[in-house]
Amino acid sequence: MDKQTIAFIGGGNMAHSLVGGLIAGGHPPERIWVADPFVDQIDSHRHRHRVNVTQENSEAAAHADVVVLATKPQVLAEAAEEIRAAVAENGPLVLSIAAGIREPDLRRWLGGDPRIVRAMPNTPSLLQAGATVLYANPEVSQDEKATAQTIMEAVGLALWVDDENHMDAVTATSGSGPAYFFLVMEAMIEAAKKLDLPAEVAEKLVLQTALGAARMAVEGEDDPASLRRKVTSPGGTTAAALEVLESEGLGESFERALKAARDRSRSLSEEFGQA
Ligand SMILES: NC(=O)c1ccc[n+]([C@@H]2O[C@H](COP(=O)([O-])OP(=O)(O)OC[C@H]3O[C@@H](n4cnc5c(N)ncnc54)[C@H](OP(=O)(O)O)[C@@H]3O)[C@@H](O)[C@H]2O)c1
Repeated sequence: MDKQTIAFIGGGNMAHSLVGGLIAGGHPPERIWVADPFVDQIDSHRHRHRVNVTQENSEAAAHADVVVLATKPQVLAEAAEEIRAAVAENGPLVLSIAAGIREPDLRRWLGGDPRIVRAMPNTPSLLQAGATVLYANPEVSQDEKATAQTIMEAVGLALWVDDENHMDAVTATSGSGPAYFFLVMEAMIEAAKKLDLPAEVAEKLVLQTALGAARMAVEGEDDPASLRRKVTSPGGTTAAALEVLESEGLGESFERALKAARDRSRSLSEEFGQA
């Protein structure tokens, strides 16, 4: 893997995070290229990561064993057109992190039978605490899947699905998911302030409680339901709060919310794919 040359098309936030994570994991900077039309963007990669940079997408792609498509979805068709010839000539693995761009659309934009992995990361990837789901088209080999997984693990957890249709549910779960937790944090902070806690105390308590609960769920043996039962004594304070949340239909609200996000993801993909 560290002998492979990886070219990033688009040098924004995600590219910075992935490049930083790869180099921290031992990938040689001289085996990384970043292409972006904007000089400030490539300069920041050159200074921060000491990688090769260019304003020409085709130049970066010409060097690559793996091309990572990291532009915004709206400009991906145009960027794909620019690397089409290099992909046809060198046959790199193409790893797209663009939200909502489906494999058949990428295949059409790139032409031929490219080996494509589509990845859906989420915002905490910017802190190397992301959750990514990957889908590979049938042309991708096991070794190439391992390469794509290593790249995405540079910014957090990476899991696979076999059916690309699951990507809309992934978007609704982990893609939009951080915002659901932010909303819960906001609501708890406001509620704690209404119990007359000073604002700063309310905020710090809620954030640290969220972090502690997430760490217990991720690092411990118990699943969230068992953890919840363990901290809920019958007739106690937690039980009193959970009864309210359950009677207000928290579960049904999340069900409706995730369906709405999944449906929106499907229609955005239709729109993006029309280019
Ligand atoms: N950030 C996240 O948390 C997150 C989560 C899930 C998925 N993603 C996906 O990751 C991709 C990148 O996101 P990001 O947050 O890194 O976006 P970003 O910061 O906007 O980075 C995209 C970069 O690509 C540049 N660019 C624009 N047109 C280009 C072209 N034709 N060729 C090459 N580069 C071009 C942009 O320049 P300008 O800014 O000047 O346009 C920008 O530097 C997106 O497709 C997004 O859907 C991001």
